[in-house]
Amino acid sequence: MSDETLIHRAMQLLASARRLAVLTGAGISAESGVPTFREPGGLWDTAHVDKVATAEGFASDPPGVWRWYHQRRREMAVAQPNAGHVALAELERRIIADGGEFTLITQNVDGLHAEAGSRNVLRLHGSLAYVRCTRCDFGRRVGMGPIDDVPACPQCDAHLRPDVVWFGEELPAEAWQAAVGACERCDVFLAVGTSAIVQPAAALIELAIDAGAKAVEINLAPTPASETVDIALQGPAGEILPQIVQ
Ligand code: APR
Repeated sequence: MSDETLIHRAMQLLASARRLAVLTGAGISAESGVPTFREPGGLWDTAHVDKVATAEGFASDPPGVWRWYHQRRREMAVAQPNAGHVALAELERRIIADGGEFTLITQNVDGLHAEAGSRNVLRLHGSLAYVRCTRCDFGRRVGMGPIDDVPACPQCDAHLRPDVVWFGEELPAEAWQAAVGACERCDVFLAVGTSAIVQPAAALIELAIDAGAKAVEINLAPTPASETVDIALQGPAGEILPQIVQ
């Protein structure tokens, strides 16, 4: 099938959706200048996952981990939503206005979906705009301004950490359950810019398909999900999404 035909079919599918669930990954923010993880030159090429994305890594070197996130927060502070984020926000407005249901499930911690105007966003991996205490229940929004030293908890003086989900940690239960529900109910599912290999988020794709949804994927390259979706569109999300959200 030609690219044009695939785009046309995806457009029709989205136009017919009554209950849409969308899963996004780092690829949707790539065109906003936020680095992805697993592509050549991506974040996991230069940083050790065990050191910067586990509770053990943080415990052994809090200043080093905060230095790494300081750099990431700087990139996010200047990043602007791109045409892909904007198209998803527009799609949500349209579906909600027609009395439908729209759920945007993101693995991203950059806040760009909300900035683009998306409302029903489930942040499966937390947000770099928030910190939380490593000991007590303290948590707070701090935005993307500079944090160049290890912050201390105003309640108990323990180290504060970025409020993101690290490897080996549970996803926020409420967001996860809402995501599962949305994937079980949706009639159309859209995966955008995710390598579709990090669990449990990646399992949502199968879940939606098994529950009967038609599935579309947008990615620069094939992923493990490309074989199972109904339509796999290859190319930049910032170019493809505005074409299929019309
Ligand atoms: N448009 C569409 N897809 C793109 C674009 C783009 N402009 N740029 C990159 N991609 C695709 C890549 O081909 C790749 O498949 O986005 C995907 C990014 O994959 P990852 O870097 O693995 O990011 P993600 O899937 O979000 O990773 C999941 O892993 O390390 C953790 O917590 C981190 O949330 C992250 C999780």
